[in-house]
This record gives sequence, structure tokens and C-alpha cells, in this order.
Amino acid sequence: MKVSRRDILKGAAAAGVAAGLPVNARWEEAAQDQGPKPSTRVRKFEELAYGMFYVWGLYSQMAQGEWVETMHKIPKNEYLKLMNTFTAEDFDAKEIARVAKRAGMKYVTLTARHHDGFSLYDTRGLSKLDITNTPAKGRDLIAEYTSTLRDEGIVPMIYHTTLDWNDERFKADFNAYLDYLHACIELLCRNYGEVGGFWFDGNWAKPDADWKLDRLYGIIREHQPEAMIINNTGISAMGEVEHPEIDSVTYERGRPEPLDRTNHKKYITGEMCHTLNFHWGNAERDFNYLSPAHVIEELCASRRAGANLLLNLAPEHHGRLPDYESALAARVGDWIRAHGDLIYRGKPGILGEDGDSGLMLDDELYLFVTQISATASTYAHGPKVRGPGPRKFTKVPGTWSSAEWMDSGEDLKLEQDSESLTLHATDYPYGTNMVVRVAKLSR
Ligand code: GLC
Repeated sequence: MKVSRRDILKGAAAAGVAAGLPVNARWEEAAQDQGPKPSTRVRKFEELAYGMFYVWGLYSQMAQGEWVETMHKIPKNEYLKLMNTFTAEDFDAKEIARVAKRAGMKYVTLTARHHDGFSLYDTRGLSKLDITNTPAKGRDLIAEYTSTLRDEGIVPMIYHTTLDWNDERFKADFNAYLDYLHACIELLCRNYGEVGGFWFDGNWAKPDADWKLDRLYGIIREHQPEAMIINNTGISAMGEVEHPEIDSVTYERGRPEPLDRTNHKKYITGEMCHTLNFHWGNAERDFNYLSPAHVIEELCASRRAGANLLLNLAPEHHGRLPDYESALAARVGDWIRAHGDLIYRGKPGILGEDGDSGLMLDDELYLFVTQISATASTYAHGPKVRGPGPRKFTKVPGTWSSAEWMDSGEDLKLEQDSESLTLHATDYPYGTNMVVRVAKLSR
């Protein structure tokens, strides 16, 4: 009988339940301050809130997505010729930090190695498929990345594939392959200073294998005790916990839900990752981009669930961030800046209807009101929205007597009873449309 990836993950999830971990957790009770408390590393990660995914490697030169080698069945020898032209001439860690800061992103997750097996770091002879065998030899991009980002106050995280399309051992001698993979992770742990965490991806390629995760995660705990351990369980298994050492579950292109932590031993957080179009690696002919409005909504939807958002910007051939994507991210950064620390430190749990929600910050209440109006004029065409009017919220702690829009200072009518709180949302003044409008409440 063929065992599906989903079945295996369910098995792993059951193991998680046995270990007292939240699995497939849901909204309910998330507002309650029950269950375990976050470790320092998890709390710090939650307060980073919003990060940049930087999926870049050999494939970026072909500009057809990061899966181009397998999707277009390119023979290995052909594909690996991309190493001869991999100059990395536009890879500039300082520029990455600048774009991240401008966008309000506090961390970056860079593909040290993706599924093609090519490493942006010097593997010290462990693999031939690394930066030392390209025209960029002499540079170690992970060294540049980690030290520059730290200097700039942006947390560097490392994406590392666990599968490998081009290493024979992955198919033929899995244990030898794992020795190699683990040696690479140890090398990354020991030689590049403190990193924010490791983001693994690929266990789903061999769902029935013994990945020896105790050993892999043990290496990280030994050498980088403050690093987050994240494993991407993928689109079909969002929010599942694969191993007790996992610090954050993933929601690849999905809507995170608050984790119900009652009766669980360990506090695990969540992170949603999203592409700006439909590929993670640079894809020149993919014009299907999200708008800044969509990203703002995704960011708020993630934060209402207490999850981070990791937004992918796909660098061009030699490592340069595309202007369009940097500009889009900067525009979202403007929205974030207009709301101070709310996105980073706001605590979730307050629920509204149809995407509305609320966060608590420093004992103040902030309500996220969505879909007020899509256009400045009712005569112009725009998506159907709920418009101004009463918005109901539940699970609201405390008693609140007044409210005002953060963007205009306009006072708003407010009603509260033991069950819920109703905010009477007004329309945008001409000249504004915040997409998600925030009301600040006072006691
Ligand atoms: C998937 C893809 C990979 C991509 C990752 C990002 O697992 O295999 O190409 O980088 O998602 O979340």
C-alpha cells in the first residue's frame, strides 16, 4: 500500500499529540492565557513578526522558478553548467538589509541550499556543488549575509533543503546522505556566528524514511541553542508538528489559525510563508503578482493568529532584488510604520467577523477593521465590500469607553456588553484607504 505524505505527517502529528504538543490546533481558547509560556527564542521570533524570504540559487539564472530542473526535466549535467555562470555579482547583503528595513521586515530567510543541492556557502570539501566552484569563488555568501545582516540589526535565518536532486546518495545510500547533510548543518552552526534559526524543507520527499531528526536537531541545540527550528510541512500539511524540537509550525500559502495551547507542554508558534507571485524562485514570465493591499491583509491575518509572515521576494539572476518587488514591500512598510509597534508586539486573540480582529498591546486594545471601502467614490468600480457600519468583536478583555481611528483621529461610537463589543466603523475620508483600518480604544 502506498503511504501518502499526508498519512505520514498524520502519524508524526499523532506522535506530537502523544508528546503533548499542539497539532492541527484551532482558534478556540487561543485568546485565553492558558497553557505553556513561550521560550525566549520563540518570544523573540514572534516579535520579529515579518520577514523576507530570499529564494535564490543557480535556478535564478533561468528565471523559470526554483523547480525548473525537475519540472522541465533538464539533465543534471546540463543544469549544473549554471555553476559556470553563477557570478553572484549583484548579491549585496547590505542592500538586502536596506530593503528589509524599508519594508518593516525584521528578519530574512535565505536559501543556503535549495533542492538542486547547490550551496551558497563553502562546504569545506563536503560537496562540489558549492560557491567555491563558480566564478564567485573566494566569496562565501552565507558569511557575507550573516555578518552584514547582524551588523544592520536584521536577524539572519537559514533555509536549508533536506532533499537533494543531484546527490546520488539521496536515492542510493540515504544514511550516507544524512551524514553529509548533518555535517553541512554542523558546519553552518559552527562557522557563521549566531543565526536566528534554521528553516528546513524537503522531508516530504521521503515521507517513510527515518530522517534521524533527533540527531539533526540535536546538532542545532548543541551549537546554536537560541536558534529557532522550523520544518516546512508544506501546502498539504499546514500547521502540523513533525518533531518535539520544532519551535514553529508552517503555513505555506495558507491562512494560519491561532494555536490552541491548552494542555500542551511546549509553546509552539507559527509562520506563514507566501510568494509575491506563483513561484518562489525568480520567474520572468509570471506576472501574477499580489498587490500591497493583499500583503497587508495577509500580514494582519497572520498576526491575528499570532503567526509571523515570511514574504518571498525572488531575486534576479545574479542576486539583485527586483525593483517592483522591493517597491511593493516598501509600500507595505509604509502601512506598518503608520501603526507603530502594533504589528510586532500586538498579542492576538480578539475575534471579529469576516476578517476583522483585534490585538492587545501594552494594555491597549486595537481593532483591525477590514473591507470598509475599496474605492474613494461609490461611482467607481471596486470589489464588493462590507462598507461602514457596526462591527462586532468577541473575546475582548476589559471594558472600553472610547475609540478613534489611528489614521485620522476621528472618534467612533462604541457599545459593549458581557458578550461582545461593537464598533461603529465610518467610511474613509477622501484621500485615504488603509485596506485594514485600525481603531485604538481607550478604557
Ligand atoms: C516548497 C517548495 C520550495 C519552496 C518552499 C518555500 O516546499 O518545494 O521550492 O522554496 O516551498 O516554502
